[in-house]
Amino acid sequence: MSEGISKPRNNACDESTVSLDSVNAAYSRWAPVYDFVFSGPLYFGRRAAVREANRLGGKVLEVGVGTGLSLPDYRRDIQITGIDLSQDMLARARERVRRKKLSNVEALRAMDAAELDLPDASFDVAAIMYVMTVVPDPAAVFRELERVVRPGGKVIVVNHFAAESGIRAWGERVLARWGDYLGWDPVFPKERLFAATRMKCISEVPVPPFGLFTKFVFERPKDGLPA
Ligand SMILES: C[S@@+](CC[C@H](N)C(=O)[O-])C[C@H]1O[C@@H](n2cnc3c(N)ncnc32)[C@H](O)[C@@H]1O
Repeated sequence: MSEGISKPRNNACDESTVSLDSVNAAYSRWAPVYDFVFSGPLYFGRRAAVREANRLGGKVLEVGVGTGLSLPDYRRDIQITGIDLSQDMLARARERVRRKKLSNVEALRAMDAAELDLPDASFDVAAIMYVMTVVPDPAAVFRELERVVRPGGKVIVVNHFAAESGIRAWGERVLARWGDYLGWDPVFPKERLFAATRMKCISEVPVPPFGLFTKFVFERPKDGLPA
């Protein structure tokens, strides 16, 4: 398993309440307790994304692989590369791969999702779960995903998106004050995701619990992306 490291980029985006440094710091804090706190609530979305990837097959890139909670659920004939900004999260993913003998995980590498040190069109599928609202510049991440999946390849996105109204919307606006500390943006609207990509959305499915999350599948056009 390769463990190469590329230097994280320092970046900030006006629209986002998070920056790369704050995300890295936040996930250093989360790493020791991440599995305990998030394996349950985020389980269904992770499972939905991995099932989709298993159905599609081929070479899979998991972006923001975190502690690698999803890795044991991929089919063993699927070759997986995982990347993450946080060395603390990746250390736990590597430990999981070793413990569970996941020989189909080819590489776990530290890098910024917005600046992938990976060749063009080198994956059949990219999966990005609970990461789009964490990155400072989702459009830059999409550009990289569009580049590294082959024409006709798929990008699976699972995330929470902001409620438009009601008690949930109010709660999300309150949480947004601590976006930097938490390491994600609780008021990320779905429209911002669509504005960030030139790929076609071919499926959109709500995910439990209570449809709080959504799974999208985007396809890189076979005949090239619009300019
Ligand atoms: C909420 S966690 C999700 C982890 C995993 N996908 C899961 O389902 O448990 C977000 C992950 O994205 C990573 N991350 C945040 N910003 C990133 C970036 N710019 N590039 C790569 N990974 C990033 C964090 O370090 C963290 O591991």
